[in-house]
Amino acid sequence: MSDIPHKAPDAPAPEGARPVPTVPYPQILLGQPALVTGANSGIGEAVALGLAQAGADVVVNYVSHPESAEEVAHKIVGFGRKAIVIKADVSKEDEVIAMFKQAITAFGTLHISVSNAGLQRDSSLIDMTLEQWNTVIGVNLTGQFLTQREAAREFLRRGIDEKISVAAGKMICMSSVHQVIPWAGHVNYASSKGGIKLLMESMAQELAPHRIRVNAIGPGAIRTPINTSAWNTPEAYESLMTLVPYKRIGEPSDIAQAAVWLASDNSDYVTGTTMFVDGGMTLYPGFATGG
Ligand code: BGC
Repeated sequence: MSDIPHKAPDAPAPEGARPVPTVPYPQILLGQPALVTGANSGIGEAVALGLAQAGADVVVNYVSHPESAEEVAHKIVGFGRKAIVIKADVSKEDEVIAMFKQAITAFGTLHISVSNAGLQRDSSLIDMTLEQWNTVIGVNLTGQFLTQREAAREFLRRGIDEKISVAAGKMICMSSVHQVIPWAGHVNYASSKGGIKLLMESMAQELAPHRIRVNAIGPGAIRTPINTSAWNTPEAYESLMTLVPYKRIGEPSDIAQAAVWLASDNSDYVTGTTMFVDGGMTLYPGFATGG
């Protein structure tokens, strides 16, 4: 995402903005090392911090901006947990395999894998280059396949450790509302997210007998660097709110709360599902008055 600022600047408090609840994390992930891809900014960073606050040691994966990955690791250590920072491009098989090897050597095993790394390369269909298509599919979809395949190998190798969790492992795939909402000008991105839906569901079906749970989170508009232009002016924010029945932008911590629950035994009977965390964006807001 070289074309956008790495850290989302704070938007001016928009007119009518609702407060975001800050809810403490229960200690439900103690002893469960987690790996989060793309953990040095935006949603990935919040998820890494949330998992750590709930008790997990965390592998902070990044591909560029090592200093921000170190910052996230530093905060994790501040929560009393361990963190290691590993550089890997999730679209590259050898790098993903090497990352898991290093992570497992450091933490002994992994119980939670969050395939989160993602990007956008927006363009109208007719101007979209093959490179823009391949980059987005490579990171967003192939990257999730490679990450979760390696996680499955480790979860199956270790099996259930009842002292730690009733499941052999938990996978969370970061999807989007655009796994169901078509998105003109973003066919590469929407296709990658649609692909994640069936990747996640098929993995869930295949791995359920092994007590490995696989779920997705479908964020709506969340205040992160990926979509700065959608919220960083009052006009943009107002236009965005026409798509959000709950009338506030999502914060990365909204996603982190969902991830902690999906990663914990509190959601033990939940597999193969997508939890939309979107303020109602998938509720066809245009039909609130029309139809
Ligand atoms: C995209 C954002 C967008 C949001 C809602 C996300 O998956 O990355 O750019 O604002 O969906 O449309």
